[in-house]
Amino acid sequence: MIKFSIIGCGRIFKKHLKFFESSNKKKFKLVSVCDVDSKALDKIKTSLILKKFLSIDALIKQTNPDVVIILTPSGYHYSVFKKISKFKKHVIIEKPVALKSKHVEEMLKISKRNKTHLFVVKQNRYNLPIIELKKAIDKKRFGKIILATTRVRWKRDQNYFNLANWRGTKKVDGGILWNQASHHIDLLIWLAGSVRSVVAKSRKSLLKIETEDTAVCLINFNNGALGIIEATTAVKPKDLEGSVSIIGEKGTAVIGGFAVNKIENWDFIKMSNYDKRIKTSHNTQPENVYGFGHQLMYKDIINKLLKNKSNALEGNKILESVRVIEAIYKSINLKKEIFL
Ligand SMILES: NC(=O)c1ccc[n+]([C@@H]2O[C@H](COP(=O)([O-])OP(=O)(O)OC[C@H]3O[C@@H](n4cnc5c(N)ncnc54)[C@H](O)[C@@H]3O)[C@@H](O)[C@H]2O)c1
Repeated sequence: MIKFSIIGCGRIFKKHLKFFESSNKKKFKLVSVCDVDSKALDKIKTSLILKKFLSIDALIKQTNPDVVIILTPSGYHYSVFKKISKFKKHVIIEKPVALKSKHVEEMLKISKRNKTHLFVVKQNRYNLPIIELKKAIDKKRFGKIILATTRVRWKRDQNYFNLANWRGTKKVDGGILWNQASHHIDLLIWLAGSVRSVVAKSRKSLLKIETEDTAVCLINFNNGALGIIEATTAVKPKDLEGSVSIIGEKGTAVIGGFAVNKIENWDFIKMSNYDKRIKTSHNTQPENVYGFGHQLMYKDIINKLLKNKSNALEGNKILESVRVIEAIYKSINLKKEIFL
């Protein structure tokens, strides 16, 4: 039996809770939760029997979980991880893993030393069209990749940023590239390859927040491809698009919808019947931008923990996507191209 605990019971908590409510309770279960805000604990509505704590130390000492899931605001991920690491537990941590690459390096080192797993929530890697796209790229079906782009056109208005005092702050939220677009930047480099350099600009357009709400970036990939990131949370009146496009010498794919869940284009010079079929079958639109991926992600993590099956999250590009976002902000601040 694998015992899980969650630290941080805010908005994304519900998505994680749903998995444990709807899944096999014989092999694994959620046993306890912690939040520094007692109101957040009081608000939890669930059929699961959970022990609730205001302190991480008390949670670990009294319920001894095997895996701790960190869902606190992004800028606190590193300090919460460090606190948990002395108990040598496996850790699942929401994106972005941390806001500094030197912290992520240390977190990876600690996990290695403790012989514990560190999984970062990148649920979009489990979207069916993204799984197909990754397979097609790995099989070299696009040939040489020429252009790889991503667009995040979402609505996050002042009411959203007023929900909690960490949102829109440089220190704890980080800005649109750390927060909303980190999913898409991760997908872009997971799919198109490692990054050689970036050059970027950003704007704070409409809102009373410390960070930017709009950013654009040109990417120079090591394999010779070019890339573009376009990210804004200033869209009105509703979420419009979360997409990635791959343009290769033998084919073109665009995965869009507002949550990178929908095949918009899937065209190769040589099309198979399977290609024609998935163009219509992989067209889901989830109820919100969080998508469906958390459920499949947990199954993958549990298979790794119980059966040591390979896992799409661990290690894989965790550090690189943080280094790329850090380089993009450096480019914005120094107004020049940054080489990684
Ligand atoms: N994967 C996704 O699609 C996705 C979506 C939304 C948010 N997130 C990530 O999840 C994290 C949380 O976001 P949210 O929207 O749920 O935030 P939130 O503000 O709604 O909730 C965070 C909770 O953590 C609690 N908390 C803060 N410090 C704590 C500590 N030291 N110990 C225990 N509890 C603490 C707060 O009291 C709050 O209840 C962020 O890193 C965010 O980037 C990921």
